Amino acid sequence: MTEKFVSSTLREKDPAFEQPLRPASFDQFIGQEKVKERLKIVIQAARERGEAMEHMLFFGPPGLGKTTLAYIIAAEREAGIKTTSGPAIERPAELAGILTNLNEGDVLFIDEIHRLSRVVEEYLYPAMEEFKIDIMIDQGPSARSVRLNLPRFTLVGATTRFGLLSSPLRSRFGIANRLDYYDPPSLKEIVLRSAGILGVEVDDKGAEEIAGRARGTPRIANSLLRRVRDYAQVKADNRIVAEIAHQALSLLEVDEKGLDEMDKRVLKTIIDNFAGGPVGIETIAVAVGEEPETISEVYEPYLIQQGYLRRTRSGRCATARAYRHLKIKPPAGASEELFPGR
Ligand SMILES: Nc1ncnc2c1ncn2[C@@H]1O[C@H](COP(=O)(O)OP(=O)(O)OP(=O)(O)O)[C@@H](O)[C@H]1O
Ligand SMILES: [Mg+2]
Repeated sequence: MTEKFVSSTLREKDPAFEQPLRPASFDQFIGQEKVKERLKIVIQAARERGEAMEHMLFFGPPGLGKTTLAYIIAAEREAGIKTTSGPAIERPAELAGILTNLNEGDVLFIDEIHRLSRVVEEYLYPAMEEFKIDIMIDQGPSARSVRLNLPRFTLVGATTRFGLLSSPLRSRFGIANRLDYYDPPSLKEIVLRSAGILGVEVDDKGAEEIAGRARGTPRIANSLLRRVRDYAQVKADNRIVAEIAHQALSLLEVDEKGLDEMDKRVLKTIIDNFAGGPVGIETIAVAVGEEPETISEVYEPYLIQQGYLRRTRSGRCATARAYRHLKIKPPAGASEELFPGR
């Protein structure tokens, strides 16, 4: 298995594995307390008024629970949910078909909403604002536009690329929820919960070991648990204790800060080839053999949040922390927090 293969499979969505682990209610959804609190209020207020909830947007890096929350919201509001995605709606007629088939109060979940075409987006605006949609009937000289009334629905959008959302679309969401990386105690709880569902025996320290390397991401915590479970089955007595978790994770080349091979390659490139930066994302992407979008969407946010990388106007810079983590001496004068002078 190549290094790239290992790190990318840890992030991969595997519906068959994820589905049983997916929290079905707020009680099961660990962490993100502020987001949950806000959503509960919206749901209760809508319920008391007997209305549909406001349109909501979830954004943040992959694997943090956007899709999960969309389903929880529908369940807690006791509403139906229909799911689609930005690229799946190619023409306005398809959008019209989806919208006219909704029931009063339903949730329409549009994943990857930043990938909706502009044409489809235009049709979505009146649907979101006035619950009406204009459709063209007939063709040629007899073509005319007919306005249809739609049921009051709640649009829930999810995106990993908030910046790519057009501002007219962004402004039509009543509530925008940013999901952030999880802290280690929350991830530990997630590991213990998932282990319970999978029937895997894991002790406190074993769960901590996995949580600490999960890159702040529940999906990664779960997939690490899956790998460690295999390891414990083959190499030990099925029980996940700290030492077993440690051995299994070392084999996967996920280090104690949760950085994987690709994270380190990004940092090393900046440090070794570009004297710590600044260097453009395109250049980094070519050097590590990855798409620029993947670097900026998947790898970079965590490196920035953890203080290894800094985004500046002229490019990306490695911080002193990045040097130390890679056991490279930071250049003289590098500040504790950031690589200065850029
Ligand atoms: N707060 C949480 N508590 C417990 N498990 C969680 C939580 N958030 C996410 N998970 C787990 O992580 C997995 C990934 O979550 P989800 O699919 O909702 O992420 P996402 O943000 O939609 O990712 P993507 O951007 O890739 O679509 C889920 O299957 C679920 O088991
Ligand atoms: Mg999702």
